[in-house]
Amino acid sequence: MSRIKFFKEKNLPLEMHKVRIVQKLNLLPIDERLKAIQEAGNNTFLLRNSDVYLDMLTDSGTNAMSDRQLGAMMIADDSYAGSATFYRLEEAVQKFFGKKYFLPAHQGRACENILAKTLVKPGDVVPMNYHFTTTKTHIVLAGGRVEEIFKDEAIETTSSEPFKGDIDLVKLEKLINEVGPEHVPFVRIEMGTNLIGGQPVSLGNVQDTKAICKKYNIPLMIDASLITDNLYFNKIREEKCADMTIAEIALEISKCADIVYFSARKLGSAKGGGIVIDDKALYDKMKVLIPVYEGFLTYGGMSTREMEAVAVGLEEAVDMDMISHGPEFIEEFARILTEYNVPIVTPPGGLGLHLNAREFVGHIKGEEYQAASLVAAIYLVSGARGMERGTLSEEKNPDGSEHIASCELVRLALPRRVFTLSQVRFIADRLAWLYENRELIGGLRFVEEPSVMRFFIGRLEPTSDWQEKLVAKFKEDFGDSL
Ligand code: F0G
Repeated sequence: MSRIKFFKEKNLPLEMHKVRIVQKLNLLPIDERLKAIQEAGNNTFLLRNSDVYLDMLTDSGTNAMSDRQLGAMMIADDSYAGSATFYRLEEAVQKFFGKKYFLPAHQGRACENILAKTLVKPGDVVPMNYHFTTTKTHIVLAGGRVEEIFKDEAIETTSSEPFKGDIDLVKLEKLINEVGPEHVPFVRIEMGTNLIGGQPVSLGNVQDTKAICKKYNIPLMIDASLITDNLYFNKIREEKCADMTIAEIALEISKCADIVYFSARKLGSAKGGGIVIDDKALYDKMKVLIPVYEGFLTYGGMSTREMEAVAVGLEEAVDMDMISHGPEFIEEFARILTEYNVPIVTPPGGLGLHLNAREFVGHIKGEEYQAASLVAAIYLVSGARGMERGTLSEEKNPDGSEHIASCELVRLALPRRVFTLSQVRFIADRLAWLYENRELIGGLRFVEEPSVMRFFIGRLEPTSDWQEKLVAKFKEDFGDSL
């Protein structure tokens, strides 16, 4: 494991890789950052990356690739049908998940489209530990509805619960009985639960959920997009996993699932995705949709170069030196912010550092998007872009009112092996300053609001001149410094 003691009293994460290719970054002066965020409609998705210093929007497709992945890309067999690359990827997927059949797709949500089209009927209910935005959209578009059955601790931002992603088994059984098992096409577990702060699911909970599914003859589906961080936490936080290898834990989790799917923009550190199953009849039913929506069965919308990179990425995903990097950097980031009293989600999870916006900017009304306002302010003071994971990422209620999210978070993603500890220290320092000056942060309102997944391309404006005031205070304190 890479975490070793090398200071007298501190555990610091130690990189088990070296950097051989670099990308030059820009840190614009604050006046230019103000212009950039306003031109982007105060939505960090709409910023140009050349205006961003630390791109902490997401880890999706932005993990650093290894020399082995880049090397593998050079031997890609570019043929439309039956390419040798596909069979190499298929073998790597089978080895990682221990399942027979693999359907390739261009990314995670494409798998969700195929799965929802095949399995969800109007009126169906899909229980899950927590929804992900694209997952929920596909289920709702197919006429179904999502029910979240997380444990109460899941949405307590400050907690010591090691597996906040676990399903509440009592609630699951109660729900199945209420709606009737015939209306539950599958139960979904999202490993490394994205929207509640990258929180893991225990192997024990996956096994117990499977037992309930089996009792009612309902398939268990696992979204393995964020499984690498989850595997790290299984290994270090769960007693029953302590003596298992990462590969063994992955296989045990997968063994419980009837259907597994993943975004290879995350798992596999490249671009793509796929569905993995043992059931031949279901495989046959879904495979006809791949050429309709994705591409031929042996590439599914992925480039063969990316497929080679995913195959190697999956091999590397069982290496503790690789998968510990994200969670250990996040833990260090969290440790520094805790020293500065900045409110964060605890225990720190995977994927990124999660700030508790509801506490950070509690003076802003929920309807004025606390997390989105904080994300815009963070860009202004640091040039780093995070992502809103709160009310703005929710769909509105049917009566048009805001659905206030149960967690109002800002995610600062740490794509694996990309940033240095001094960059983490820089952003932590700016967050500490922002927290001291938090009263200056104001709310946002929509000027262009898309009807679905509005967070991606919606445009907003400040509800007052708070951004100019924040910039003025920044200049007072930092002078000419960027
Ligand atoms: N499932 C989970 C748990 C995810 O985090 C994502 C993507 C998807 C499915 C969809 O996969 O993007 O390849 O279509 N999460 C990205 C993020 C967008 O930034 O967290 P995709």
